[in-house]
Amino acid sequence: MNAPGPVPAPDHVFDWLDTEADKRAAAGLVRRLRPRRADTGEVDLAGNDYLGLARDKRVAGATAAAALRWGAGSTGSRLVTGSTELHAELEHELARFCGAQAALVFSSGFAANLGAVTALSGSESAIVTDKYIHASLIEGCRLSRADVAAIAHSDVAAIKHALATRRKPRALVVTDSVFSVDGDLAKLGELTEACRAHGAALLVDDAHGFGVLGEGGRGAVHQAGLSGAPDVVTTITLSKSLGAQGGAVLGPRRVIKHLVDTARSFIFDTALAPGSAAAALAALNVLRAEPELPGKVLAVASRLSEQLAEAGFTVSTPDAAVVSVQAPSPEKAVAWAESCAEHGVRVGCFRPPSVPDGISRLRLTARADLTESDVDAAVKVIVDCAPR
Ligand SMILES: Cc1ncc(COP(=O)(O)O)c(C=O)c1O
Repeated sequence: MNAPGPVPAPDHVFDWLDTEADKRAAAGLVRRLRPRRADTGEVDLAGNDYLGLARDKRVAGATAAAALRWGAGSTGSRLVTGSTELHAELEHELARFCGAQAALVFSSGFAANLGAVTALSGSESAIVTDKYIHASLIEGCRLSRADVAAIAHSDVAAIKHALATRRKPRALVVTDSVFSVDGDLAKLGELTEACRAHGAALLVDDAHGFGVLGEGGRGAVHQAGLSGAPDVVTTITLSKSLGAQGGAVLGPRRVIKHLVDTARSFIFDTALAPGSAAAALAALNVLRAEPELPGKVLAVASRLSEQLAEAGFTVSTPDAAVVSVQAPSPEKAVAWAESCAEHGVRVGCFRPPSVPDGISRLRLTARADLTESDVDAAVKVIVDCAPR
């Protein structure tokens, strides 16, 4: 008898993906990668390079020099071969700048958030979050095995109630400092009071506040007088204001020690590339030397928002660098953003599922290196390209 031949590979196991793709197309939710050229000449109101440092020669040059000295990659996880002297120096300098006891660098802000939320909670914990927190924090909550309550946006009374009625002994309140979609600021003072009244720790994702808010760009947590607090932990990304790549957690020394021992996105992840650590360090030095940069970002954000409001759009009032402009539908938002790009202005386009309230938007980000005439010209393009 012949042995049975190999089973032919079935070509239908991923058929369901086509059905899902059709559904997304019908809802106007298809996403497209648009590789940019190095020299577009576009006005960039879509990126997160708030201080305009990503291509600054001091910052990009530090990347190149570090890559030549230390290598293109870090060669291993932080606990094996991936920790270089650059990582240690960056952690020291970030903590010193922000007034935290200690800092720990991760390979991204996403990894920092996953690591912080999971390591600081667990099955004995309740996590109470604002509904509009960043996706990376939401993923951390999902992995945490904690009881998770996601509360309506900016509703501190409901957060207090959730803390008071929790069934678990430990509690962690999780919030963005500046919310990614509309750019509004969390009520950090009230949240801290609520945490302290109910024995909870506070975790603040300051991705959009660091480098833009607080004295010299020390961030929203510093601005709220909470840096160095024994019950507050901050996460940041190195990929926005610092124009580099990577993330960090800042907080009490014992929190950082706990993360080194237990945060899985720290332990089981290749360390941040030396070039990125060096770039972040160089950018931090620029920020120290030029403390006026954050104020320039805020002025650009206000000018954008005021002019678009005057033109009749529904625009957020920016608390930091992010300005959002409502669009009538996902399809119209995409067409609006594409038309702006064709006219030399790159804007962000946020649609479901990236918007917690389901409203599609153009998302504009201010940059310190834009002049008033850059802003005025960009606003004219956005107004001219608006859907009729
Ligand atoms: C609020 C917030 N947290 C975390 C992250 C993730 O940071 P990273 O891009 O460094 O992974 C982002 C970036 O998009 C963000 O906007």
